[in-house]
Amino acid sequence: MLKQLKHSVLLALVCGLALICAGNAFAGHHGKGKEKKPGILLVAFGSSEASAQVSFENIENKTRTSYPDTPVFWAFTSHIIRHKLARAGKKLDSPEVALSKMADQGFTHVAVQSLHSIGGAEYHDLRKTVGGFKSMGAFEKIILGYPLMSTQADMERVKAAILNTIPKERKKNEAVVLMGHGTHHPANAFYAAMMFQVQLTDPNVFIGTVEGYPDVKVITALLREKKIKKTWLMPFMSVAGDHAKNDMAGDEEDSWKTILTKAGIKCKVVLKGTAEYDDYVDIWVDHIGAPLSHF
Ligand code: CO
Repeated sequence: MLKQLKHSVLLALVCGLALICAGNAFAGHHGKGKEKKPGILLVAFGSSEASAQVSFENIENKTRTSYPDTPVFWAFTSHIIRHKLARAGKKLDSPEVALSKMADQGFTHVAVQSLHSIGGAEYHDLRKTVGGFKSMGAFEKIILGYPLMSTQADMERVKAAILNTIPKERKKNEAVVLMGHGTHHPANAFYAAMMFQVQLTDPNVFIGTVEGYPDVKVITALLREKKIKKTWLMPFMSVAGDHAKNDMAGDEEDSWKTILTKAGIKCKVVLKGTAEYDDYVDIWVDHIGAPLSHF
């Protein structure tokens, strides 16, 4: 009796196992069980400046080293820059084209990583694109990673990156003025929020923006109030492109260097984008890990 029972239990087990195997084989030949193929899409505004290539290569290398098994692709959101590059013989995709190509190539899971500094207008446009591909069912999963400054944990890491990348020759009574991009988008508030947190540790570090608040007038007034005689000027943008070279460090009447010099503040310029420093790049690259962990 006991032997018989053992037999039937064994039989049931074997049958069950056979069914599971058959089930797997079935899934393997059909769409649903399509072999998992994850990919990463890095999305930047783009830049036609040759020097910006340093930043992009640095991000790409770090991404490949951190996620060696996942292919990496690029897209630029700015069509003006894409057209400019195309004329120079360099073909770069928009996020829409890049994602279509990835769908065609059989990618099933895509981590889209924004290389923006804040979740502004461009980031939200990218979110719409990602949402479109999601509702089309182009991939099993498509997730958009956060930009540089997002959670409070990010803010603390960015603060550390700012403090760590200030040139060592800078003396404590000299100011450091970072130039962010700025935007009409409500996310513009991140710049002042970041400045507040940095100043809790180093009160002579300031963050202004070219196209938002606080602008250079506000920053100049703050420096004068503190009787600052010398400042370091650094871009707070991923690449040291047109804004950094001209609006920040140019010789024109309205450049930050000219305005501050006229206000009696000596300027020392650093022309390096945030994406050239590992301190910042690591934050973007770590953001890719969150979507990947859901795949
Ligand atoms: Co701009």
